[in-house]
Amino acid sequence: MAEGHSPVLLVHGGAWAIPDDMAEAHVNGVRLALAAGWKVLERGGSSVDAVEAAIVVMEDDEAFDAGRGSFLTSDGRVQLDALLMDGATLRAGGVGCVERIRNPIRAARLVLDESPHVYLVAEGAERFAQEHGLPLCANEELVIEREVERLREVREQAAGRPPEFFAEHDTVGAVALDSRGKVAAATSTGGTLNKTPGRVGDSSLIGCGCYADNESAAVSTTGWGEPIMKLVLAKWAADRVQEGMAPEAAAGMAIERLETRLAGHGGIILLDARGRHGLAHNTPRMAWALKSAHGEWAGIKRPGP
Ligand code: GLY
Repeated sequence: MAEGHSPVLLVHGGAWAIPDDMAEAHVNGVRLALAAGWKVLERGGSSVDAVEAAIVVMEDDEAFDAGRGSFLTSDGRVQLDALLMDGATLRAGGVGCVERIRNPIRAARLVLDESPHVYLVAEGAERFAQEHGLPLCANEELVIEREVERLREVREQAAGRPPEFFAEHDTVGAVALDSRGKVAAATSTGGTLNKTPGRVGDSSLIGCGCYADNESAAVSTTGWGEPIMKLVLAKWAADRVQEGMAPEAAAGMAIERLETRLAGHGGIILLDARGRHGLAHNTPRMAWALKSAHGEWAGIKRPGP
C-alpha cells in the first residue's frame, strides 16, 4: 500500500440528550481523545494504535460510559465490552462482560494481536488479558458514586414495572486512517443502565457496533444496542460505502434505517480509505471530534449541511 496518505481521525463519545451541564466535559473528553490518537498518526503510527490510544483516554474519563464510571448492571457492577478491528487485514479482537479490566480496549487489542480467536468473554477474557501483561483490578474500583446513585434512582422508578430500557448512551468510538492508507475502528462501552448481568450489546460485536474494512469503511456506532445489533448496522453502513455511496450519505441512511425499521436511536461515525468521513445521529446530541489535514472540529451536534 502506498505511503503518504493524509491521516484522518474521528471520535465519538456517545449520542443521547447530553445535558447542558455535562456538555463541556463531553467536548473536552473527545478533544483529549482526539489529541491522543492524533499523536500516534502524526508520527506515522498505525490506525490501529491511534484508535486504541483515543479509546483509552475516553475509558479513563468518567464522563463517558466506558471503563471506570460506566453505567451499572442491575446488580450494581460494571461490565464492559470492547472491540477493535484492523481494516487492512480484517483482524479483530473483542471482549465482552469483563469486570476487572480498566481499559477493555487494551484487552481487545491483545485478543487481536495474540489470540487465534476473535472474541473472549468474562473470566476467560480477564485471564487471557492478565496472562498477556494487563493488570486486573477489583470491580469496585470501576464503580463511582454518581452511578450508584443513578442506578438507585432508576430502580426506584422501575419498581414493580417490567424491565425497561434507559435511553442514555455514552459508548465511545474512534475511526482512523493512517499515512499508509489503512483504516481501523474501535468501540468501547459499559452498556446500558440497569442491564441484566451478562447482557452483551452491539459495541463489541463485529459489524454491529464496530467494523473496519479498507474496501469499504471503518465504522463505530453508539446508541441503543439491541436495535443496532438486529440491523448489523456498522456492516450495513460499510456495505453502502463499498457500493459507492459517500460515507456522509451512508451514515445518514444507516440512522434513518435504525429509526424507521426498529424505532432505534443512536449515532454513527464512518471513515473510508480515501479519507472521506460521515457522521449522523437521531438523538438530540452526540459528542464527536474530527482531525485531518483540513483542520480540527469538536462538538455535541452534527455539523450543519
Ligand atoms: N451501544 C451500547 C450498548 O447498547 O451496549
